Amino acid sequence: MKTYYDRRAPEYDDWWLGRGLYSDRERPGWEDELGELAAAIAGLEPVRTLDVACGTGFLTRHLRGEVVGLDASDRMLEVARAQAPGATFVPGDALSLPFADGTFDRVFTSYFYCHLEEDKRGRFLAEAQRVAPELVVVASVRGEGDAAERWEERQLRDGSRWTVHKRVFDGEDLAEELRGELLFQGSWFVVARA
Ligand SMILES: C[S@@+](CC[C@H](N)C(=O)[O-])C[C@H]1O[C@@H](n2cnc3c(N)ncnc32)[C@H](O)[C@@H]1O
Repeated sequence: MKTYYDRRAPEYDDWWLGRGLYSDRERPGWEDELGELAAAIAGLEPVRTLDVACGTGFLTRHLRGEVVGLDASDRMLEVARAQAPGATFVPGDALSLPFADGTFDRVFTSYFYCHLEEDKRGRFLAEAQRVAPELVVVASVRGEGDAAERWEERQLRDGSRWTVHKRVFDGEDLAEELRGELLFQGSWFVVARA
């Protein structure tokens, strides 16, 4: 996973922005919904927040308050430092967070929880709960006919091929798994808080 994201870092935001390899993807309503997602994130109370697996900081920049971004990929963090200069970024493992109990008010995580297999989702939830009383998770909405859990074939601009685990959610099932509530439900993105 680390090598894949190190190599993907310079082209990662193409996925958010529908550029490069993603320029001919049919994603009706994506841009408007992305604006709504950004507004929902900016609407969270400004507290001490740890953005776990922050990637390029594409969403980190919308979080208000004292924000720390953590990621396993140094190359992702390089992009994040330029893209979200208001936050502090540290390397680290999401399943063994390098922080004392209760260091933060909130753990935020986007498009990371959905890459974990069930046992690791459990480990991550325990770790998030250890460092903060609140957890906000952004994930993909399950498309019609899509399997909820699957291994996806991915390709990068250099032609390299990778296999990535993906769990997608209908919405309520994410809130249930987190034992929380839905904050945002769109056709592309779902946000739940525990
Ligand atoms: C799909 S990206 C999501 C990035 C960002 N949160 C976003 O929504 O654009 C997944 C991120 O998880 C990071 N990652 C994967 N495994 C990790 C781990 N065990 N600890 C910390 N970061 C990890 C990758 O380096 C990558 O930046």
